[in-house]
Amino acid sequence: NLMHVSSQKIIKINPSNSYMPAPFRDHIDRIRRFTVRPDDVWLVTYPKCGTTWTQEMLWLLINNLDFETAKKIQLIRRSPFLEFNEDFHSVDTMKIAENIASPRLIKSHLPLQLLPQQLWTVKPKVRIIYVTRDAKDVAVSYFHHHKLMCKYNGTLNDFVDAFISGYALPGTIWDHILDFWNIRHEPNLLLISYEEMKKAIRRIATKTAQFLNRSLTEEQLKQLCEHLSFESMKKNPAVNLEEQLQKIRERQNFEVEEKFIRKGKVGGWKDELSPEASEKIDKWTREKLRGTDYPCCRYG
Ligand code: A3P
Repeated sequence: NLMHVSSQKIIKINPSNSYMPAPFRDHIDRIRRFTVRPDDVWLVTYPKCGTTWTQEMLWLLINNLDFETAKKIQLIRRSPFLEFNEDFHSVDTMKIAENIASPRLIKSHLPLQLLPQQLWTVKPKVRIIYVTRDAKDVAVSYFHHHKLMCKYNGTLNDFVDAFISGYALPGTIWDHILDFWNIRHEPNLLLISYEEMKKAIRRIATKTAQFLNRSLTEEQLKQLCEHLSFESMKKNPAVNLEEQLQKIRERQNFEVEEKFIRKGKVGGWKDELSPEASEKIDKWTREKLRGTDYPCCRYG
């Protein structure tokens, strides 16, 4: 039951086999024709892979570590979300993205095949950062996200079934990740993982800065890593979506205790997934990865 996962009617989009809210149908062509600028930086992820964390890191790297502005202005206003906004029906998110000054940092959860065509054709090539995360941690995180944002009242087991079937937007995580994994050698694409960020944020920040042709002093790197720590992001109102959650709560009239920046753990699924749900995801993952060279031990 699709409506069980999402509060909106969702439809299957071909050729990417993705699921999106029905009104998205009217935007597909416009997104495909979206004008990409060579100095853009694009952040593409499946939801809950650490998008916000990476987005804050990228924004700071692109904007000479302007911590003052980063604390003053909401991340969602500094870096547009191409295809969605919590006011999806009233705000033209693409217009916002079209009108902001360069260099832009654009976030998208769209699968590769639905992204703007110019991402692959514009010269010099635009830089794209793609973030992966362990599928079980994503399932649990996305379940909490649905409770937080969509008044979802199914169980985690129900959610796992929907997640595997592709009914959680924008479709299945494995199709999303594998499309980017298969082009990981493209010089304009940087593939990183949530797990690597947890293990070694300094190394990933340094690597990402190099990819963006930015250099950092030791002191700057230290400040950046402190700013990006879980504790400081959790209490930072410019990134923790408190304002948006407040609006959603008022509009939908419900109370939740959860926070957007929630646990931030690797392997946190172990505390929540039932053995059956865990086995279901493992079996499905083995099927999806059969015949691919995606390393099962990528997450350590
Ligand atoms: P959990 O729900 O497992 O805690 P996204 O931004 O793609 O929606 O991802 C959200 C996930 O990233 C959440 O995972 C959130 O807690 C985690 N996260 C956000 N900021 C983080 C940080 N600074 N360090 C570690 N995890 C972070």
